[in-house]
Amino acid sequence: MASTSRLKFEGISKEFPSVKALSDVSFEIMPGEIHALLGENGAGKSTLLRILSGVFRPTSGEVYVDGQAAQFKRPVAARAAGIAMIHQELQQVPNLTVAQNMFLGQPLKTAGGVLVNRREQERRAREALAMIDPSIDPSLPIRNLKVAQRQIVEIARALLFNAKIIAMDEPTSSLTPAEFDSLAVIIEKLAASGVAIIYVSHKMDEVFRICHRGTVMRDGAVVGAVDIKTTPEKDVIAMMVGRELMHEEHRSYVAAQVRLEVRDLSSAATHVKDVSFDVRRGEVLGIAGLVGSGRTELLRLLAGVDPIAAGTVKLDGTDLKLTSPRSAIAAGIGLLPEERKREGIIPIRPVSTNMALPSLGKFSRGGLIRHGEVKRTANDLLKRVNLRPFQINRPIKLFSGGNQQKAIIARWLAAGSEVLLFDEPTRGIDVGAKSEIYHLIEQLASEGRAIIVVSSELPEVMRVSDRVVVMRNGRIAAQLGRDELSEQAIVAHAVGEAGLTARDPA
Ligand SMILES: Nc1ncnc2c1ncn2[C@@H]1O[C@H](COP(=O)(O)OP(=O)(O)OP(=O)(O)O)[C@@H](O)[C@H]1O
Ligand SMILES: [Mg+2]
Repeated sequence: MASTSRLKFEGISKEFPSVKALSDVSFEIMPGEIHALLGENGAGKSTLLRILSGVFRPTSGEVYVDGQAAQFKRPVAARAAGIAMIHQELQQVPNLTVAQNMFLGQPLKTAGGVLVNRREQERRAREALAMIDPSIDPSLPIRNLKVAQRQIVEIARALLFNAKIIAMDEPTSSLTPAEFDSLAVIIEKLAASGVAIIYVSHKMDEVFRICHRGTVMRDGAVVGAVDIKTTPEKDVIAMMVGRELMHEEHRSYVAAQVRLEVRDLSSAATHVKDVSFDVRRGEVLGIAGLVGSGRTELLRLLAGVDPIAAGTVKLDGTDLKLTSPRSAIAAGIGLLPEERKREGIIPIRPVSTNMALPSLGKFSRGGLIRHGEVKRTANDLLKRVNLRPFQINRPIKLFSGGNQQKAIIARWLAAGSEVLLFDEPTRGIDVGAKSEIYHLIEQLASEGRAIIVVSSELPEVMRVSDRVVVMRNGRIAAQLGRDELSEQAIVAHAVGEAGLTARDPA
């Protein structure tokens, strides 16, 4: 190639005490290139980016920036060299303001050089935020923000320091399609100005929309380079997972008996109003709708998280008093929440212990934890979610982001609820493991449970649901049986343009 690469990895290996996370990784990225780093959960993507950003040192190998060997001993050094990193796990201090978080570790000083120039920090923070979401107020404590907004803050932070390389590790996992659209514009603008972007995402449609080329990793090694503009998506996926993914048909286990009966349910805290539906034994009810249509809010009502203003919920004919999450769990309703990253985990304890934590009561007798029982359940559930590597005694913090997600799903299954509410069940999970989660959902349904799945991914809703409720502005806009199900129909009802063919219950 004629010009010098902006970034080059040469023979990078990284060994951890029990795993070889990277072996001999080499590839390069040109100025102005948007480069996808692809691979299954645990393939080594985050580890490579942590080496780039000075969090880890490689066991061997070299990183070159603009042709110069660059061995960053600390994250500050990498940042000073023009490398901005958006980490997979948000690294923010809840009590500091948005602006303070954006300048964390490198505050702007006043002319005297002693005091932090808060006004200037806020001004620059507002400027950067305005490019993606002008509604975010940099003077607010960051804990007041939703996850999606906090993710936007991380991205805006990368815009502050004139980076020449920006590494994004799943930057959009909680963003809406509209938010991704504005991010895509910014990424393309940055690339046009010569910045090199490394983009990690399990959302293939995003990768195919914005990336130019990609490197595919499997088990810590590079298995191929792809031209994203010309390679079919299914070939890229086959390279990632080492096999062709079959599209599997939906399997149905719906019985006649109604298990969950929701009538005229209204929220005291949100716009969810007059919602009525049933879920039968073995049924998977999908809930679709735009962001803000009330899907998550509805699940929170059923899980006792938000207060109910009016309406009834019955399980197997019994009226439930859903006044707290505890009461919902006791009644047999379990919620896998949307915001689950690092939710109440003890990082240094084994993944099996972390799985058992919230349901310790179930695993104890006479005040003693039955370790054998924990182990048996962990073996079973962590296998069902396909934890990799399958080492149940390994501390949870050592697992890749996607595998921690799987462990959190298992943890919540350990509670053994009869009604399972899944909010965005495959967020952060790779394309191959997704189908395993779908199988798991089917298996749970076949055991007679009543299941509700909220998902923003239409193919996912179509794949898992026996029936779909479409929400709009806090109300049910339509209920679609499997035979009436299509992406077009869902979208039409979600945006309120189903026209004359719509059966509008309102
Ligand atoms: N600090 C650590 N100590 C030991 N092993 C680690 C450590 N960090 C990561 N690993 C291991 O290195 C491998 C690669 O993990 P990495 O986080 O890079 O995967 P990833 O490709 O980012 O996956 P995901 O898509 O799930 O985020 C995994 O097997 C993981 O368990
Ligand atoms: Mg990762």
